[in-house]
Amino acid sequence: MVFLTGAGISAESGIPTFRGAEGYWQIGSTNYQPEDLATRRAFAAMPDELWAWYLYRRSVCHAAAPNAAHLALVALERTLAERFLLVTQNVDGLHLRAGNSLARTYQSHGNIDYSRCEAEHPRVRELPQGLALDWPKARKLSPAELDALRCHEHGRLTRPHVLWFDESYDEPLFRYESSMDAARRAAMLVVVGTSGATTLPNHLVSVAAQRGLPLVCIGPDESPFTRLTESLAHGLVLRGTATEWMPKVARALGVRDGS
Ligand code: APR
Repeated sequence: MVFLTGAGISAESGIPTFRGAEGYWQIGSTNYQPEDLATRRAFAAMPDELWAWYLYRRSVCHAAAPNAAHLALVALERTLAERFLLVTQNVDGLHLRAGNSLARTYQSHGNIDYSRCEAEHPRVRELPQGLALDWPKARKLSPAELDALRCHEHGRLTRPHVLWFDESYDEPLFRYESSMDAARRAAMLVVVGTSGATTLPNHLVSVAAQRGLPLVCIGPDESPFTRLTESLAHGLVLRGTATEWMPKVARALGVRDGS
């Protein structure tokens, strides 16, 4: 069973989605489209500002707690064990904080609590302890904080461990091939809270559709995924929020109360 999650699963934990009305893609007084700001190009042009913005977003993630939908996925992993795989686009770390295992959680867009340098085989490191977890929106980094974000080996400024729009998925950092393999072998795909705007989710859903897998799509709004799901004989759209549906889906897939 493969579960694919996007920003919608964390919306009820208080983390704004990317393309919803409260998306927070802003630096200074300028508003940006995600596709313009979450890029290697933007980081090259204004690294300090991008780091400050990611540290602010990280503080939003840390202020949030896992919700009933995250917990349902933890119960599903306990019940399904090696038959369970979670592919998430979320960098908020909430699935791991809820209790899903790193081995069975592919963080296909990275994790906001980590950084890496641009070296060829970068080591992914947890962010230094000293960086505030309650970072106000307009706060800039001090020289000491910027220094703490330098790579120990190469001396240059590290970057957030996330996948940007002008970059490609890969296996070592983002488990791309493993995710695709899982979709090719899966018995069922459950999609929760994603608008279908990025490549990997689209590939996973296409493979599921081509293979005739049962495909379940959960979300309150219409999206390319709900439209595709509705067009399939083996597709089921569960219209509503992640916390409304995921506990029910978990029970339907064998999770017992208390697990
Ligand atoms: N429960 C379930 N789904 C919800 C909820 C909720 N409570 N609230 C909103 N949604 C749905 C929205 O209807 C929308 O379809 O979640 C989806 C969120 O879509 P996006 O904001 O586009 O987020 P996502 O699909 O995760 O974005 C993909 O794009 O910006 C990049 O890298 C970033 O990982 C992100 C990727």
